[in-house]
Amino acid sequence: MLKKTALVTGASSGIGLAFAKLLAAKGYNLVLCARRKERLIAIGEELEKKFSVRTYSIQADLSKRETPDEIFKELKSKDITIDFLVNNAGLSLKRKFSRNSWEEIDDFMNLMMVNVTKLCHLVMPSMKEKKQGHIVNVSSIAAFVPEDSGSLYTASKKYVSSLSVALAKEGEPYGVNVLALCPGFTHTEFHKVLGNKEKVEKFPKIMWMTSDRVVEEGYDAVIKGKRIHINGLVNKVICFIFHMIPECIIKIITPKKMLEDSYKSDH
Ligand SMILES: NC(=O)c1ccc[n+]([C@@H]2O[C@H](COP(=O)([O-])OP(=O)(O)OC[C@H]3O[C@@H](n4cnc5c(N)ncnc54)[C@H](OP(=O)(O)O)[C@@H]3O)[C@@H](O)[C@H]2O)c1
Repeated sequence: MLKKTALVTGASSGIGLAFAKLLAAKGYNLVLCARRKERLIAIGEELEKKFSVRTYSIQADLSKRETPDEIFKELKSKDITIDFLVNNAGLSLKRKFSRNSWEEIDDFMNLMMVNVTKLCHLVMPSMKEKKQGHIVNVSSIAAFVPEDSGSLYTASKKYVSSLSVALAKEGEPYGVNVLALCPGFTHTEFHKVLGNKEKVEKFPKIMWMTSDRVVEEGYDAVIKGKRIHINGLVNKVICFIFHMIPECIIKIITPKKMLEDSYKSDH
């Protein structure tokens, strides 16, 4: 039987890299996308040796609208179709909404929402036709917590979670599973890129997970057909509390500084 193929965005580090490793271990051939191509090539070579799979690295800047179409044009020319999509690439803007240029905001929305949606749109029809397929959209517990002043990050993750549930409902009758995976603090390069690593590393250890653990849970959840998975007990409790308690009380009890420190390095 021919091997299935998984496409992982943001496969050059963190949660995306952990997905690439796990899917290779499960026998998937891989299409690895990110901007740092040399990293992707090294990762691909390692996975090919270790798991006897084929990998294909594509240098892709997903903050540009045309990128998903370019990726799929390349895949079509190689006769590659996608059975498992992991929409993972992401970051958080360093400054508040009004202090970013429109170009920065436009790039952010393309990366975090538009191209997540576009990639789902590019794979879903063939998955529905084959009556099988899996999509994991990496969201965040930010989708369940109050919006922080001037942060687009929570808004983008609320969108990704809502989109995923809607697509899961469309895919279900066709055997296509769609999951919003919602990690909390995870040891990756995310906070180093954002520039607030030192601040968030002071948060209690109990709030942190490894990317391998996040991804193992995410894989199990999408295989089982879950629509939303919040990683870890601590994060589930945090989300439950924010869901149950009225807004006026949340305003008083939310550790505002912790929210700010999580998503932004400069206010
Ligand atoms: N770490 C956390 O605490 C945490 C918690 C909840 C949710 N998340 C979510 O998890 C996802 C993965 O983040 P991570 O924590 O694994 O961080 P990470 O280690 O910094 O990885 C981010 C990945 O996204 C890629 N990426 C960033 N901008 C891109 C662009 N314009 N085009 C293509 N690829 C791009 C990066 O690759 P290149 O730089 O090579 O392009 C990298 O592979 C994100 O969606 C993030 O919002 C993270």
